[in-house]
Amino acid sequence: MDIDALSKIAKQMVAPGKGILAADESMKTVGKRFASINLENTEDNRKAFREMLLTAPGEAEYIAGVILHDETIRQSLPDGRSFVSVLQSEGILPGIKVDLGTAPMVEGSEELITTGFDGLDARLKEYVSLGAKFCKWRSVITIGEGMPTEANIRQNAKDLAAYALVCQQNGLVPMVEPEVLIEGNHSIQQAEEASTKILTAVFEELKNAGVAMEGVILKTSMVISGKESGAKDAPEQVAEATMRVFNKTLPKELAGEAFLSGGQGDVQATENLNAINQLGDKPWPLTFSYARALQDAATKTWQGKKENLEAAQKVFLHRAKMNSLASLGKYKPEMEADFAASDTATQSQD
Ligand code: 13P
Repeated sequence: MDIDALSKIAKQMVAPGKGILAADESMKTVGKRFASINLENTEDNRKAFREMLLTAPGEAEYIAGVILHDETIRQSLPDGRSFVSVLQSEGILPGIKVDLGTAPMVEGSEELITTGFDGLDARLKEYVSLGAKFCKWRSVITIGEGMPTEANIRQNAKDLAAYALVCQQNGLVPMVEPEVLIEGNHSIQQAEEASTKILTAVFEELKNAGVAMEGVILKTSMVISGKESGAKDAPEQVAEATMRVFNKTLPKELAGEAFLSGGQGDVQATENLNAINQLGDKPWPLTFSYARALQDAATKTWQGKKENLEAAQKVFLHRAKMNSLASLGKYKPEMEADFAASDTATQSQD
């Protein structure tokens, strides 16, 4: 395992003022996004959608890496350049989602585990040959009556560690993503408890598996009240709860953390990231790895129409810039002027 090479990639992924664009939605999830703009879920439309995001001029100023889907990593623009080569020419790292979605932990259970170990090593080798530098595997933790259970936490932590090890053995930086779902009526205290439990277990299992922390990027949720709880947490509250958990659970050697947006409104996700980064010195860069909070407003502007491409890219670049500033703790709400936000986030990924 070449730890120096992994560490170099990981540092590049969370370089100051930069974050990650998650553009790795499954076809089913893209279908849900397209339904909101009445667009048919065809391969051509998915390609045009990714073209809008990946060719936004100057995005490398804010975006260090893009997580692609298996379909997108193989696609090209109408002019023949592959999406991967477009990213490479901008100095943006191509990444790839390698899990194959979630399944109930046991039949009828609300708790989920993640699938994707079949043929994983061979798939990673192919992705390396296609230019990938990092990977993503998403595990899901549900908060509810009697949940999360110890069994679910342990299983997801072990799976994330097993995945991370194979990635590093193939020279790929694993994004380790335990997502604590925002769906539910739980309190911020319950979210804090669940996040503490899952992150404690994840770092125990990563250590047991011999995964090098310098070559890992954590991708987790901010600590926040459940969407159906009716609570509106102030950014300072989210920031303090999140940092309490991180200070207890994250090893100092970890290369960095890039948050998912998880169903927060796009401006809310920026405000909360900014509040986290205003809390003073921390051992790790804390940035964004958003899908919905970077894409939703741009998708609404785009509407699947060529003539809206430029306007949609501007909206996307604006959100990328706001989150770049937030990753440095330098965002101010008045910087939003003239840009319509999309504060009605859509459902999470599959
Ligand atoms: P959201 O930012 O929409 O939560 O998606 C991030 C992601 O990659 C989920 O796996």
